[in-house]
Amino acid sequence: MKVVAVENFADPTFSADLIGWQKIHGRHTLPWQNTRDAYLVWLSEIMLQQTQVSAVLGYYARFLERFPTLRDLAAAPVEDVMAQWSGLGYYTRARNLHKCAQRVVAEYDGVFPSDPVLLAELPGIGRSTAAAIAAFSSGRRAAIMDGNVKRVFARVFGIDTYPGERKTEEAMWRRAEALLPEEGIEAYTQGLMDMGATLCTRSSPSCERCPMQPRCVAFATSRTKDLPVRKPKKATPERHAVMLAIVDDGQVLLEQRAPSGIWGGLLSLPELDGHMATGEDAAPAEDHAALALAVSRFGEMESYERLSTVTHGFTHYKLHIAPYRITLARRQMLAAQSHHVWLDAAALPDAALPAPVKKLLLELLGNRSAAQQRMF
Ligand code: ADE
Repeated sequence: MKVVAVENFADPTFSADLIGWQKIHGRHTLPWQNTRDAYLVWLSEIMLQQTQVSAVLGYYARFLERFPTLRDLAAAPVEDVMAQWSGLGYYTRARNLHKCAQRVVAEYDGVFPSDPVLLAELPGIGRSTAAAIAAFSSGRRAAIMDGNVKRVFARVFGIDTYPGERKTEEAMWRRAEALLPEEGIEAYTQGLMDMGATLCTRSSPSCERCPMQPRCVAFATSRTKDLPVRKPKKATPERHAVMLAIVDDGQVLLEQRAPSGIWGGLLSLPELDGHMATGEDAAPAEDHAALALAVSRFGEMESYERLSTVTHGFTHYKLHIAPYRITLARRQMLAAQSHHVWLDAAALPDAALPAPVKKLLLELLGNRSAAQQRMF
């Protein structure tokens, strides 16, 4: 018989405890509270999407002085809306705010719908913001889910998978729906926000004052620092390059790189196309022919020596450079429009070379005696 695990997230004591706490210890005098005016609620929720309460307060008051009603906002030029928003950041919010005001006037005769599904179809209103607006302005039962709520849930329920991952986030939404109270959605929703912002903070949660402490898995297992789980770091991609240090008569052959890319416009060593370095191993058998062919544009190869691999870390990847020191039996004139130059070894320290390439070349020179350097 197949056994299917049935999740049962419902627990009426969760909302009862939270509502009880919010009524005594939560925030009750924020300027967008104690009203059911959807315009005032909506404006606050948009401003609070990516901005803290303390930063929003002044903007909220000034915005409402300039645009006292939804119709004032909808009728205003978008430039005036942007000007009022200036300094609050994330300006897509302001453009969407203006579009949303115009849509509510055009499609709903200036009255916001109370259904969170309809609210979420309007510009700038996602599922969580729609739920907050519906709860605060109409008392509708709908679940919010923002960064603060994810943190509270991850700790209280001991969720130890990354909340940004789709499966975890979907399970958190289902949990949030199952935990909604039958009554008191306003205090419950505000309670989740208040707990996340004032008690269950990211770096120093006040567990001693928390109404969830007796049921909190993170508290019981001393894991408040570890939950929520941080975004897993992606493995750094690795790239390989074979570089040719062609040396002749006290000079080294350098190539001007194309203007774009990580080393755009710098001088560097010519690279062997399509050849992957094979780590620290001795040169593979086919290298001789490939090297001689690559070098033939510049002269006749006399000898080659595989040098130790150099690894350079960029922010987004690691580059393993397999360098070859190559000497010439005979140098060939460079083509007129060639992107190559022969540079005196003495000029290397001041040349515009990528740091690891410069280091490699200076070591190549530094490791050799003065007599050898002259030959080089
Ligand atoms: N963050 C998002 N919505 C909020 C609200 N209504 N009160 C306080 N902080 C919030």
